[in-house]
Amino acid sequence: MKISFKSTIDTKLFRLTGQTADENGFECYLIGGFVRDIMLKRKSKDIDIVVVGDGVEFAKILAKKMGKGTSLTVFKTYGTAQIKTQNIEIEIVGARKESYQRESRNPIVEVGTLEDDQNRRDFTINALAICLNNSRFGELIDPFNGLQDLQDKIIQTPLDPNMTFSDDPLRMMRAIRFASQLGFKITDKTLFSIWENRNRISIITKERITDELNKIMLSPVPSIGFFMLDKTELLPLIFPELSEMKGVEKIGYRAHKDNFVHTLKVLDKMAEQSDDLWLRWASLLHDIGKPATKKWDENLGWTFHNHNFVGCKMTAKIFKNLKLPLGEPLRLVQKMVLLHMRPIALSEEKVTDSAVRRLLFDAGNDIDALMTLCRCDITSNNMEKVKQFSDNFNLVSQKLVELEEKDKIRNFQPPVDGLEIMNTFGLQPCSLVGELKVQIKDAILDGIIPNEHDPAFEFLLKIAVDKGINRV
Ligand code: CTP
Repeated sequence: MKISFKSTIDTKLFRLTGQTADENGFECYLIGGFVRDIMLKRKSKDIDIVVVGDGVEFAKILAKKMGKGTSLTVFKTYGTAQIKTQNIEIEIVGARKESYQRESRNPIVEVGTLEDDQNRRDFTINALAICLNNSRFGELIDPFNGLQDLQDKIIQTPLDPNMTFSDDPLRMMRAIRFASQLGFKITDKTLFSIWENRNRISIITKERITDELNKIMLSPVPSIGFFMLDKTELLPLIFPELSEMKGVEKIGYRAHKDNFVHTLKVLDKMAEQSDDLWLRWASLLHDIGKPATKKWDENLGWTFHNHNFVGCKMTAKIFKNLKLPLGEPLRLVQKMVLLHMRPIALSEEKVTDSAVRRLLFDAGNDIDALMTLCRCDITSNNMEKVKQFSDNFNLVSQKLVELEEKDKIRNFQPPVDGLEIMNTFGLQPCSLVGELKVQIKDAILDGIIPNEHDPAFEFLLKIAVDKGINRV
């Protein structure tokens, strides 16, 4: 039975594309992610079109026909073209029968039929085509039952998975990413093949791998993707530091928690709270320093001293290695990793104003992000413990608000600056000026003086006397 999607795609743009194809003797189809997303009623970012014949030639004719406000870019190496008009991007490619060189991603392109082209696509759900030619406008061509797989939420390859993954190993990451993004299941055969072909991931550039990792990170339940990366043993190849976190060690009856599992719980909790990619990265990396700092202590049991400092250093390396942005995102993630234990440690003791002020001072504008991460970090199964933590934590949150209102510590600017200190005592720039500034800052954070100029200046005069420095 021929299924028609005529009414779904009946737009001026698609009618014009079909008509142009008819006039110039091309077969023309919507294909790939665009068709998949129509079926899933999902927003799609660009339109993929395949024509039987010279795709670039067709794109040139179509762009001309679309007229004003249309731009055309041709990618000669790949034999593809892109048309941009208003907010729409159309990717046009000629149908191919492709084979890949084993050690490279650059395909040897051979002109093919629609069937050839569908054969060489990654998954059945991405191989659906809808005809745009007038006589068959809206007709679905679905040789691999992709529509059924969409309904059954299944990811599998059109051909033998070993062939599909060997052709382009990035598809192993794509399979896991789609499973995580869409909540689909990868068939056993496909999953096994990912495991078998995992070492081929080495020919893929870091940027493309990280692009997929970020899509996993942004999916509704990111742990789904990471558990699959682990199961298929891709994880140690692309992200060894995360893989190192796996496992539980026991001495006597004392075991530490599995930091990989804990981390993914924190990540999922963060995903419920925030769509921000970098806060999600902060959750993934908050305990990354634990394997390197793990020690057994007869009295204390398992310890991870300074794992936040070590983790902070590792974060920079990981960002560099994965080609993640080194500016503001890295700064934020490093700060979160460094400070992630502070609010919890605070809530374990008596919550003093001074400690809360110091936390506000160190976290600055990132305090809300930090508090969100820390709430997500409470993952114990012991409900009594969780309640105790949460209660104390709420107290910390409340005090943060009160003290911020009163003392304005978040964007702390010293009320008496270095220049004023130098002018007051006739000093040249020297370490003494710095020491005096630190003493003023500490007095404010400890609540000895308010965060205001006059009391701070008076305090300065007092400590100067103690140091034997005279006013000029
Ligand atoms: N494709 C493929 N193998 C790849 C990448 C892409 O077979 N490694 C095919 C698939 O048919 C895919 C289409 O090219 O649907 C378009 O690719 P792309 O735009 O990268 O992905 P989408 O499937 O559209 O999904 P997303 O936009 O979420 O990346």
